[in-house]
Amino acid sequence: MIGTLSFELGDGILRREHQRILKTVLRRGAEAPERRPGETIDTSRYDDETLRAARNVWTRRMVNEHHSAAVFTGLLPQLMEAGATLDVKTAVLRMSMDELRHGALCAEVAEALGGKPSVEVELSTPSLATHPGVTPAERALRNVIFIGCLAETIAVAFTAEERDCTEDPYVKRVITQISADETLHARFGWDYLSRVAPHMTEEHLGRTSRWLRTAFVYLEREEMLEVPNVAPPSEVLRDEGLALGVCDNRQTRELFYETVESVIVPGLEAVGLTAREAWASRRAA
Ligand SMILES: [Fe+2]
Ligand SMILES: [Fe+2]
Repeated sequence: MIGTLSFELGDGILRREHQRILKTVLRRGAEAPERRPGETIDTSRYDDETLRAARNVWTRRMVNEHHSAAVFTGLLPQLMEAGATLDVKTAVLRMSMDELRHGALCAEVAEALGGKPSVEVELSTPSLATHPGVTPAERALRNVIFIGCLAETIAVAFTAEERDCTEDPYVKRVITQISADETLHARFGWDYLSRVAPHMTEEHLGRTSRWLRTAFVYLEREEMLEVPNVAPPSEVLRDEGLALGVCDNRQTRELFYETVESVIVPGLEAVGLTAREAWASRRAA
């Protein structure tokens, strides 16, 4: 159902609990990334076109981050059914809270850029893949691989690049937090895979390798939709965009392929999955 996605805090007793969680459980480093009272972005430094593009990017990010929270919470029952250890189950809930916070941080940036901190969107979120016909352990592993080793590993590469290019101090603080959190989300995937892989049979490795082709097709399609193959209008506007966390789509597309080929594929190959072949033959999937 289409409705308003906003990040307003309620005024019940949980408001204070939410703020306590931000300061304790979700804390990284000394500086909180949340916008400080009166903190602004110096919009006079930027062209109107840059500001419009930046508002669009941060609003879209707000929605994507918010949806990612449902991905991690959806993973919890699958990990429970797979008999995952307690640390894994606790960590996925933390990661879900990270994503809710990322959505709120992006909303604050959109507002600081002159936009709205809310948007009309489809509020329902897609369910996690159930992979019919496989065991609960195999199902959970596939989704952990897709979320942690694929999608979040790409997110680490993208956000690290954005963090390095961003100049506005407030926007940089936000991207630094998001990037640090995405690093944990990716490490979760690789760590889980490295623990499970030594116990996988040849058949299980073979089935997972064949499934990887479909996973790569889906990943490529979703990531490319986010960065249409369009050049920035000019070098000046490109640089202005980078300063506000707006990537150059063509470079981000290159970074995607570089990350798949130099990080993801070798990482999956290292545990015995034939990822190189799966990536090369993905279009036949
Ligand atoms: Fe995120
Ligand atoms: Fe994430």
